[in-house]
Parts: sequence; C-alpha cells; structure tokens
Amino acid sequence: MEVLGITSSQQAIDLEHKYGAHNYHPIPVVLHKGKGVYVWDVEGHKYYDFLSAYSAVNQGHCHPRIINALKEQADLLTLTSRAFHNDVLGLYEKYITELFGYDKILPMNTGVEGGETAIKLCRKWAYKVKGIPENEAIILFAKNNFWGRTLAAVSSSTDPSAYDDYGPYLPGFEIIDYNDIPALEKALENPNVAGFMVEPIQGEAGVVVPDEGYIKKAYDICKSKNVLFIADEVQTGISRTGKLYCCQHDNVKPDVLILGKALSGGVFPVSAALADDEIMLTIAPGEHGSTFGGNPLACKVAHAALQVAVEEKLDEKAEYLGKIFRSKLQEYSENSNVVTLVRGKGLLNAIVIDDTDNPTKARDICVQLKNNGLLAKPTQGNVIRFAPPLVITEEELLDCINIITTTIEKFE
Ligand SMILES: Cc1ncc(COP(=O)(O)O)c(C=O)c1O
Repeated sequence: MEVLGITSSQQAIDLEHKYGAHNYHPIPVVLHKGKGVYVWDVEGHKYYDFLSAYSAVNQGHCHPRIINALKEQADLLTLTSRAFHNDVLGLYEKYITELFGYDKILPMNTGVEGGETAIKLCRKWAYKVKGIPENEAIILFAKNNFWGRTLAAVSSSTDPSAYDDYGPYLPGFEIIDYNDIPALEKALENPNVAGFMVEPIQGEAGVVVPDEGYIKKAYDICKSKNVLFIADEVQTGISRTGKLYCCQHDNVKPDVLILGKALSGGVFPVSAALADDEIMLTIAPGEHGSTFGGNPLACKVAHAALQVAVEEKLDEKAEYLGKIFRSKLQEYSENSNVVTLVRGKGLLNAIVIDDTDNPTKARDICVQLKNNGLLAKPTQGNVIRFAPPLVITEEELLDCINIITTTIEKFE
C-alpha cells in the first residue's frame, strides 16, 4: 500500500525500521519542522535542539538569510560540475580565504571528504615538497579521534565499532595519545612523518578538551620538524567554541584547516580544506575533485552561512553563554551523584554521567530530557553533549539549564 504522508511519529519510526539500514539508534522523536533553537515533532510538540545536528546548525534551524540564499540560487543554477566555471564559486572562495587567512580553498561536500582532502594534500606535499620517499609518508592521528566513516577514516580510528570487520585498512597512519606532547615528540623522530591531524577538542570522543596550551605546543613541535599541522575543525569550527575556529584560542593557524557541518548552517553538506599555496598547489588538475564540490548552490549557502556567523557575532555569543552554562552545571554537579564532570568550550559542552548502577543511564536521561522538551544525545555511552544553536538567547539558555537540572534530579 502506498504511504501518502506521515500522520504519527510511530508510523515514521516503523517505516525507517522496516526500510532503512539499522546503522543508527535515534532518540525516539520524529521531527517535522525547525526554527532557530526550536524543532517540532510530527504531533506538534516543541523542543529545544541541544545537539544542532552534531554542531551543523550553529546558525539556528532554517536561518532566513541562508534559506533565502538557497532559494534564490536554486532558481538560477544548482550544479555545473567543475568541468565549467560558475559565477558564484570565485566570490565564495575569495570571501572564505580572506576570512580565515589562507591563500586557497578546496571545496568538498561532507566533513569526511574534507578530511580525505587534507590527507591527500599532506601526502602530495610530503612527496613533492618535503621529499619523503615514495609511499612512505606517515600521518599521525590522536587516539579516540573521529572524522567520519570512509575507509581512510576508519583506518585511523581506535574505536572498534567504527573499524571492526571493515579491514583491510589503509596503511601510513599512526596513532598517538591525545593531549600528550611527549608522545608527539617521540613520533616526530621518524623523518617520514608528514602530518599530524587532530581535533582541537575531540567532539565525538565526548567533548574532550585538551590541556591549556596543548594545541600551541603541538603546532610548534610540528613546525620545528617540518610536519604539517592539520586541524579537523568540522565540529569545532564556525564559532562553536567561542572563536571562528577553535585553534584561534591558542593563536594557531593550522597548515591545513578542515571545515564542514556549520559551514552551510546545516542546510546541506558543504566542507572545505583551506591551505596556503605551497601545500594547495601540489594538487594539479584532475588529481582530486568531486562532482558536487564547489557547486553554486553550496557556495551561495556557505557564503551566507559564514556571513551570518560573523555578522551575528556567534563566536562572542558562544563564549559568553558557554561560561554561564558551565558554571551553572558545575554548581549543580557539586552536590550530584549523577553528574561527575562538566567540560567544554563555548557552546560545545558535555556532562559525564556516573552510570555504574545503570549502563543506559545517559540515554535514559536523554529520553527524559526529550519528554521535558529538550533534545540531546549521549556519546561514548556515559557522556551527554550539549551543543545548542548559537542563536540561543540567555533567557532560553537559562530555561534549558533548568530543564536539564530538574530532569537529572529525578535520577539522583
Ligand atoms: C571532528 C569531525 N570531523 C569530521 C566529521 C565527519 O563529518 P561528516 O559526517 O559530515 O562526514 C565529524 C562528524 O561528526 C566530526 O565530528
């Protein structure tokens, strides 16, 4: 029988279960509409979105300026491929490179493609500029990294649920501990190391914030060994942590900067690798690309999404509101048996749940949060990440803190 429309959340959940692959385990809510910090389910219930599609919707759901850019461009031209030029790409490239201070951008679509691009750039640079013998370049990654689901990404993963049964894996990757400068120094004794790819805060690992100064030290050591410092800012970029990109907290300009997610305001997949000419021009025509990368629709949307982040000062908002969020939850945690730790930067935060008596406690809390009008999702089992759209007001944030603490109180 043909299904004409969704009339209940259960119907949508059943359809997904029957016809979709079971590669996700969502919180049981079926969203129909979004505006700013709010989303509504099929039955019309309203929620605060405290995940923002894993920090892709920093500018808020359906931001009018981004949606207008999308609509206007959609009526004109959506895709040319890079076989031809289009009249939007160059303007976007000029804007983003000037904003971030790089010579060039290589536009892609998903975050993981941004990471793949960075690795390919690093390998080309290793052979053409640094002079590493052919096929011997090593790229370092940190333990518990997450940068997507391609075979290169899972080949550098330390999470068995990401890599199990997907071998054989890509060679040329080495893992060192995160937040461990001596480990980096030791790994860099190998002259074939070409790059170190790292998240300035490990998002999927549970919003793990390294020690103050780690990023700066890591960058300096890489520079002293002529090794590229590659920052994966797919989750931390675009104002999420209180700066346009997180490495700015350490005054570090990475050799390669990877952006994605909120680069389009969550409208559709747009990612980028940014680098200076010495690195970027190692790739010649035909040596890397993507049918959709740099398409006019994506460029218009990303251009608008960046302008919104800058003009609405989302970095300053994230910095200011993040401090309030952490201090209130910190205060709560001092007398809590459930919340053992509060951590984060800007509006990328998490709480660690003591789940020794109940391994599903973090998820149970998230389901209860949902029932109380706030959507969040556990990561790594016992960590709940809180990352609302950065357009949230102080009043709304205080309301959300109230929902979170009163919900957790029931689990004490
Ligand atoms: C730090 C980081 N890098 C890369 C990715 C991959 O992005 P995408 O899912 O768009 O491929 C993610 C996704 O969560 C991420 O958090």
